[in-house]
Amino acid sequence: MKGPAKLFVKSFGCQMNVYDSQRMADTLAPQGYAETAAAEDADLIILNTCHIREKAAEKVYSELGRMRRLKEAAAADGRRVLIAVAGCVAQAEGEEIVRRAPAVDVVVGSQNYHRLPDLIARAKSGGHAVDTDFPLDDKFERLAAPSRAKTRARGVTAFVTVQEGCDKFCTFCVVPFTRGVETSRPVEKIVAEAEQLAGAGVREITLIGQNVNAYHGAGANGSARSLAQLLERVAQVRGIERLRYATSHPLDMDDALIAAHRDLPALMPQLHLPVQSGSDRILAAMNRRHTRADYLDLISRLRESRPDMALTSDFIVGFPGETESDFAATLRLAEEAGFAGAFSFKYSPRPGTRGAEMADQMDETEKSERLYRLQEAIERSQAAFNRGCVGRTLDVLFERPGRYPEQIVGRSPYLQPVQIEAPASMIGEIAPVTITEVASNSLFGALEPCSVSSPCNGEVGEPTGPARSGRPDDRHSEPGGGQTPPRTAVGGSTLPFQGRDKTASVGA
Ligand code: 5AD
Ligand code: SF4
Repeated sequence: MKGPAKLFVKSFGCQMNVYDSQRMADTLAPQGYAETAAAEDADLIILNTCHIREKAAEKVYSELGRMRRLKEAAAADGRRVLIAVAGCVAQAEGEEIVRRAPAVDVVVGSQNYHRLPDLIARAKSGGHAVDTDFPLDDKFERLAAPSRAKTRARGVTAFVTVQEGCDKFCTFCVVPFTRGVETSRPVEKIVAEAEQLAGAGVREITLIGQNVNAYHGAGANGSARSLAQLLERVAQVRGIERLRYATSHPLDMDDALIAAHRDLPALMPQLHLPVQSGSDRILAAMNRRHTRADYLDLISRLRESRPDMALTSDFIVGFPGETESDFAATLRLAEEAGFAGAFSFKYSPRPGTRGAEMADQMDETEKSERLYRLQEAIERSQAAFNRGCVGRTLDVLFERPGRYPEQIVGRSPYLQPVQIEAPASMIGEIAPVTITEVASNSLFGALEPCSVSSPCNGEVGEPTGPARSGRPDDRHSEPGGGQTPPRTAVGGSTLPFQGRDKTASVGA
């Protein structure tokens, strides 16, 4: 074979998969695999799959059809292509995948990515290799770290998985089955990863986990640390200016974490907090273990701690037995909570979950109709948030070039994409931007020539940034610290909240 072998990885679903896909590529790099964005050039194709809803799982099989054709075309040219299925569909379906799609060579569950080189070698020597155990060895210990150049190429924001699995057993959710029991990585391993990322130019880290605020990893002295303590520690990493975390369960939002949004300058005023339903009856049937009133009380405590907190959420419509009055309660919650955005989904019965066995499964047409009504409410809330940002000055971390020359795109503290005209040399900087216009999913603005927390000499492009001396947008708070305008969290590399039926958040 000429040159390095080529690897094509396609990630479906949540940020955990995006992170895992990168770590798989990092682990295969020392084996001689270089990444390609073109599936037709690849010698190894990995589909990193999602099982959260039926639609997501079925997408994998249609994609496998396409990959089989590429494999056959390559074989006709005398080139061998291997196909691997990773992620939650692999974990849930195991051998069944090879039966349904015989072109698949490797099936690897989400805890076994460190074994990929082995599995590939086995498949190369003939037959299929399937590994969906929950091994005792820690995959994070065995997965290779990216090179500095690779980290640089991935940009100035990064995910770090700090926690995996979930013990909550919401009755609609497959995560406890596909990702297993809740486990947390030790603090110092996470800090070491953050330091390595910071050293390669990363300025913002999102700590991710299926139920991230249940984090309880070992600290340096071996005793368990909470997410609030972990955030405080990661905030000390030189070069990391911004922190976020996702996805959180309302029950695990403790007082220390709420206070961290007030006290920790690097922690962004943004939180994804799935509620799923606004009806107490449905919340109980979902085994969410909190009421509507508990949720509303929690968000008001969060806003007391951090008045400009941008809250987003997840909703499921059409859970078994959901009446029109249950749905009306959900709609009211979506209207009253002042959400900055939300994902909303039609309930999809998943194999092995209690919800799938419940009587009163709802008709699809009715689900679609409710989804539509809910999404309209979410969009109104989103639009109001975006409008509330016009005229405000927000600190933006610039991440990448825009679609047009001289345009760059960054994120506000609330995770909104913000587009401005500025040189690409500003990518990686944090600078104040005055918002002049909003579109459905983006804000547009202009650089502030000078500002209180970003001393500059008037030259656009001068390194600025809100240092770590105060809350990033203290100076922009509405008079009286007022009620936050709702916010739109929008598509992109971190947490897209289009309000449409799309997968993106992690779990919880
Ligand atoms: N059907 C529909 N939506 C679901 N989610 C999880 N399981 C299901 C299901 N069976 C949604 C929840 C969760 C998000 C990641 O996906 O809203 O918060
Ligand atoms: Fe766990 Fe979230 Fe799934 Fe509930 S919805 S079981 S909290 S991952």
